[in-house]
Amino acid sequence: MNKTLFAASALGLVMAGMAGSVLAAPDWSKVPSRQVTLFYPGTSGIEWIQNGTEHGGAKALRKGDRCISCHEDEKKFTVDIATADILGGKKLEPKAITGRPGTIPVNVQAANDGSNLYLRFSWKEPKDAADKKDKDNPVKLAVMLEEGKVVAKDAKGKEVLIGTAGGCWGTCHTDARTMPGADDKKTKYVTGGTLANGQYYDMMQWKSGKGAKPVDGHVADKRVMEGGKALVSAEGKKEGDTWTVTFTRKFTGGEGDVALAAGKVVNMGFAIHNDSSEGRFHHVSFGYTLGIDAKADITAAK
Ligand code: HEC
Repeated sequence: MNKTLFAASALGLVMAGMAGSVLAAPDWSKVPSRQVTLFYPGTSGIEWIQNGTEHGGAKALRKGDRCISCHEDEKKFTVDIATADILGGKKLEPKAITGRPGTIPVNVQAANDGSNLYLRFSWKEPKDAADKKDKDNPVKLAVMLEEGKVVAKDAKGKEVLIGTAGGCWGTCHTDARTMPGADDKKTKYVTGGTLANGQYYDMMQWKSGKGAKPVDGHVADKRVMEGGKALVSAEGKKEGDTWTVTFTRKFTGGEGDVALAAGKVVNMGFAIHNDSSEGRFHHVSFGYTLGIDAKADITAAK
């Protein structure tokens, strides 16, 4: 170890000691960041996504394409155009919704220290006029991790690796609560998913409410908001109009915790519930790969 590094880590240890159990967080000003545009998805559950007669991407997904191969085209960010259609009530929303933002650009950073993953999200809070069903939590941010095992059968019966293609979409169904006409008790789920067969998403969530505890759960045949042991902390703050949320997560944990290790690449998706919104009324990301000391859409380097 060279002198500077040694001094830096020694200082880190001192600071960690001062802050009690808080781990030495990385110097975020030195960590590269990737901008990810979250968008308002309306009722575009997986059944709509994979229905070839309604969604232009269905055929390409069958061949192994990912959402971002079409939707992150800078010249033609289709979703950016279409959120006007969705919020306008022309498609994927029973009626128009006014005052809500179509997209939220978020800066994503990741790092690791050999045994913990650090994830940092920052974004400018947009003007919003949501239904405010979750009065206790003005803002929430959830992250899902997946190991490339979740499949979804499309309209032609072909199995698509949906976690790899599209992040959280493997959990989003048109019969889940807050979808039009759906059972209010039915949460998100993975069809055929169990912890044993690996077809599940690890889920963690930060909530802005006073004293709100972060969630460390998973989604398999249903959503479970507890049981995980990997999450060390989830912290958020607002400075001016900018939110910054940081997760510290051990590489390995317990039930429903996707195991991370140097060299491993997993799938990641995340979502923000802005303006006390609830259920499907969030802004979501497509799927991105997260690499631990490995090349990926977003790399968590040491
Ligand atoms: C082959 C390119 C392609 C891929 C891959 C693709 N899409 Fe699309 N998507 C389109 C096109 C074109 C539209 C606009 C026309 C339409 O509705 O089909 C669209 C529309 C949408 C819309 C509605 C908003 C709009 O623009 O009308 C959503 C939501 C969406 N896609 C989500 C996804 C998700 C999620 C995935 C990955 C699981 C995905 N797409 C993969 C091409 C693609």
